[in-house]
Amino acid sequence: MKFFVDTADISDIRELAATGLLDGVTTNPSLIKKSGRDFMEVIAEICDVVDGPVSAETVATDHATMLKEGRKLAKIAKNIAVKVPLTVDGLKTCKVLTEAGTMVNVTLCFSATQALLAAKAGATFISPFVGRHDDISQDGMAVIEDIRLIYDNYDFATEILVASVRHPVHVLESARIGADVVTVPPEVIRKLFKHPLTDRGLEAFLKDWDETGQSIL
Ligand code: E4P
Repeated sequence: MKFFVDTADISDIRELAATGLLDGVTTNPSLIKKSGRDFMEVIAEICDVVDGPVSAETVATDHATMLKEGRKLAKIAKNIAVKVPLTVDGLKTCKVLTEAGTMVNVTLCFSATQALLAAKAGATFISPFVGRHDDISQDGMAVIEDIRLIYDNYDFATEILVASVRHPVHVLESARIGADVVTVPPEVIRKLFKHPLTDRGLEAFLKDWDETGQSIL
């Protein structure tokens, strides 16, 4: 399973890229606002730091303008994935951009039937939002299970990119279901490394090693 980080904060991206475990980045207009940075500038900087797909979102709602925005964003770097919303105009734009060889991430997906349409439109990634389902007492991960089943039934190449991830259990369930990618906020990625028994075990090993008086180097 690929790990993307869901942020436009360049210092978090640099730190996580240095682990060698980061496969890509997703951003959205709210994350750009939070970064306080110029959109085009910060996306270009992220593309310099990370080799994998970097999602940059269009903001027009009509097909013609969305396509212009998508083409402009795609010129920033080779690893741009243009993000379009799951609307009629968004899927029309998705089809044109993917046929021209641009990666497209279809965002704001909340149902398996929407995901089916995105796959038919040739999306590179479909982004179902699990956390926002959970927020309204619906089962976000059940949607991921349905999408996995449907995509496997028809051998769709569209990658399931689990979005709106709020905690490590979303990551665990995504891996169990066989999602292709999870996009995870930096603070949740950091939690994935941690286990209290790892910390306690390491402390005990180091104490015992110290008492041997030996050194490896
Ligand atoms: C990712 O592409 C989405 O923009 C993001 O995961 C949304 O997450 P949120 O529901 O926490 O805002």
